[in-house]
Amino acid sequence: MMKKNNKLNTAIQFTKNILTTGAIAETSREVEVEITKKIPSEGAKIIVEFGMGHGNITKEILEQMSPDSKLYSFEVKKEFCEHVKNEIKDERLIIVNDGAENISKHVDGKVDAIVSSIPFTFFSKEKSELILGDTYKALAKDHFFSQILYSKIHTKKLENFFDKCTIVKTSNFPAGFVYHCEKHEE
Ligand SMILES: C[S@@+](CC[C@H](N)C(=O)[O-])C[C@H]1O[C@@H](n2cnc3c(N)ncnc32)[C@H](O)[C@@H]1O
Repeated sequence: MMKKNNKLNTAIQFTKNILTTGAIAETSREVEVEITKKIPSEGAKIIVEFGMGHGNITKEILEQMSPDSKLYSFEVKKEFCEHVKNEIKDERLIIVNDGAENISKHVDGKVDAIVSSIPFTFFSKEKSELILGDTYKALAKDHFFSQILYSKIHTKKLENFFDKCTIVKTSNFPAGFVYHCEKHEE
């Protein structure tokens, strides 16, 4: 659990960068737990995170994944990357200071889980579709893309790209919806 000062600092940074972060505070503990439920806990797996922020979900992913797995965490804000580099010392973590839309430039081969908190509401239709298309391509068959959203307006879009989407509502205010989207095709 993050210390109070860190949480305050995170809220200030998020608010200052609202157009990029799409949030004024980091996600709740309830969301951290739900969104990491599809992370495989055994074997040498490749996991990807979109929108690392100050690394709260990143820590939970590292908790869930095996010692032989690797986590590529994408984040567009350089300051957030520097913050996490100082905060989390874990050799399994590869911080990528680039956008989710460039996943194919940084990650080779199939990915075993993608966990995302990027703000789709702030993206153009073209950018959202580029990210979702490349996400689907990158995922291994029968694996999951898990995304937190604070409204259901993107449901159709996610259902169009993925073979099955399950939505879990979280009880915190504002209510969040964790989408677990599965890929069934090769
Ligand atoms: C709502 S914050 C979530 C941060 C943290 N993971 C959490 O759950 O509290 C969204 C994060 O996504 C980052 N972001 C925005 N667009 C992005 C993109 N295209 N690719 C990767 N990260 C992006 C923002 O800078 C911000 O840190």
